[in-house]
Amino acid sequence: MAWAGYWHSAATLNFLRGYISDLKGSEHAASYTADAQAIAQKPLSSEQLEFFTSHEAMQLDLEEALTRAVGSKYYNLSAHLVWIGDRTRQLDCAHIEYFRGISNPIGVKVGPSMKNDELKDLVTVLNPKKEEGRLMLITRYGAGKAEAMLPGHIQAVKESGVPVTWQCDGVHGNGVVASNKLKTRCFDDIMTEILEVKVDPTSLAIGLGLGALAGFLLSKALSKSTLVNPGIDKASEKVATVQTLKQVEETMKSNDGKAVFCRCWRSSKFPYCDGSHGKYNKECCDNTGPLVLKTA
Ligand code: FES
Repeated sequence: MAWAGYWHSAATLNFLRGYISDLKGSEHAASYTADAQAIAQKPLSSEQLEFFTSHEAMQLDLEEALTRAVGSKYYNLSAHLVWIGDRTRQLDCAHIEYFRGISNPIGVKVGPSMKNDELKDLVTVLNPKKEEGRLMLITRYGAGKAEAMLPGHIQAVKESGVPVTWQCDGVHGNGVVASNKLKTRCFDDIMTEILEVKVDPTSLAIGLGLGALAGFLLSKALSKSTLVNPGIDKASEKVATVQTLKQVEETMKSNDGKAVFCRCWRSSKFPYCDGSHGKYNKECCDNTGPLVLKTA
């Protein structure tokens, strides 16, 4: 299992390398390169380089191998903050036992299946000394559920007397599988969940989990799918479609009385629709469709 952890780390780096190679082909490549070089030339100092890392401590054998005694305490030295996933947070499971024994600040993902009493017990077990900064609860309910679930969870934690920091992860609970089998998210779902979170000023510091969101936004920014026209006649400064009424009539005659024009800019028969809008809509959570002209 340990090697699987390393494999995923390597895959993540490859993912970043993929972005860089995309950037190389971009029209903005020169300015990105200049920015990167300017950053690289900045003098190194501990103050400028202070940053913190975090990851899910899921592979227990890997995490244990990276755990060391520091003085009288034990720390997972693979990251500053390590978190427990929503699927590995059961009180009687090995992950909780491991996390009880380390002194890192820790996070717990809180999903829609978490019961109020369960959460109360969990925060008490993980932070028995009620230390400030020890525990972060990372909500990932999914769009449409936060408003119903969060008040009960806040109340349960208040009753426990355990101090926690709340963080909203609007990305994790909103996964969908696109038609190309890749897991992705609809940005509107992420925003819906974030906006559902009403901050309770009496008990909370709320943050946003932006790690995956940043990657998501970056991919959106770099993706060709964000262009209105990703590939039709890109050599032209402007793609304009001009048709005379006679041409439209002829198209209708040969097409059961209809002329169907593409408005999604994905058709291989542009300016006519070939049905590609369906695939595009599924992948991008959009709702584009053609312009249909009919004789009656
Ligand atoms: S293919 Fe573009 S609207 Fe149908």
